[in-house]
Amino acid sequence: MNEKWEGCLRQIREKTAFRPRICVVLGSGLGDFADGIRKEAVVPYGEIQGFPISTVQGHKGRFVFGYVGEVPVALMQGRVHYYEGYSMTDVVLPIRLMGRMGAEKILLTNAAGGINTSFAPGDFMMITDQIASFVPSPLIGPNPEELGERFPDMSSIYDLAMQEKIRESAGALGISLREGVYLQTTGPQYESPAEIRMMRTLGADAVGMSTACEAIAARHMGLRVAGVSCITNMAAGVGGAALSHQEVEETGRKRAADFRRLLEDIIPRLDRA
Ligand code: HPA
Repeated sequence: MNEKWEGCLRQIREKTAFRPRICVVLGSGLGDFADGIRKEAVVPYGEIQGFPISTVQGHKGRFVFGYVGEVPVALMQGRVHYYEGYSMTDVVLPIRLMGRMGAEKILLTNAAGGINTSFAPGDFMMITDQIASFVPSPLIGPNPEELGERFPDMSSIYDLAMQEKIRESAGALGISLREGVYLQTTGPQYESPAEIRMMRTLGADAVGMSTACEAIAARHMGLRVAGVSCITNMAAGVGGAALSHQEVEETGRKRAADFRRLLEDIIPRLDRA
C-alpha cells in the first residue's frame, strides 16, 4: 500500500540527496518565484514515474530544490487539482513526498476568489482556518500508519507561530495582509452567486480549488502548515463581473512581484518559527 509515493521518493532520491526544511507550493501565477532562487536541483514532475502531472495552463510542473537565503527549500512549481481527474490520494502525493524528504513546515499558496466583501482583487489573505467539507478527504482509504494516525486532529491546522511570522513579514514590508477562512471546492466550474452567499454564511472569506486537502495531508503527517492566498478576483455575484481563468492569471501576474517579495521575507522567518 502507498508504494506509489515511496516509488516517487526513491526516484527523486536517485537524483538528489537534498533535504529541504520548508516546502512551498506555488499557486497559479506565482510559479516565477522559483526561477530566482539559488538552485541545487530541479526535477520536472514528468521525470518521476507515477507522479500526477498538471494539465492546467499556467502551471509549469517541477520541483525546485535550493536556498532562499540560507534556508533549504523545496518549491513546487505547479500542483495537481482534484478536478483534473486525479484521486485525492494522488493530489496530495507531492505533499507527502516533501514531508518524507525532510520538510518540517509547509507554506501553501494559491489563487482564490474573494467572498469577504471587504476584500479587493490583488489582496493577499493569510489563511487562518479552512472548510474542506465540500471535497472528499485525502485520507479516505487504508491509513498509511507510517505517516500518521487514522483520526488526526484538525483543531489547529494553520500553525499559530507561523501565522505570527507571516504577519510580521507583511508588516515589515508594508504589504497589506488580510486574514480569513479558505473554502475548497472541487471546481472546475466557478461558483454560482447563490453558492457564494451560502459559503459566506458558513464563514468562508475566500474560495479556491486546492490547498485545504493538502493542508489535511500535511497535518496528518505532522507537518506545520501555513497558507497565503492571492485574491485574484471577487467571487461570483460579489463584483457583478463574469469570472475567467484569464482574469485569475492576470491578477496573479500583476501581484507576482509583491508575492515574491513577501515569500522571500517570509521563508527565513518561518524557519525560525
Ligand atoms: N473560485 C474558485 N476558485 C478560484 C477563484 C474563484 O472565484 N478564483 C481563483 N480560484
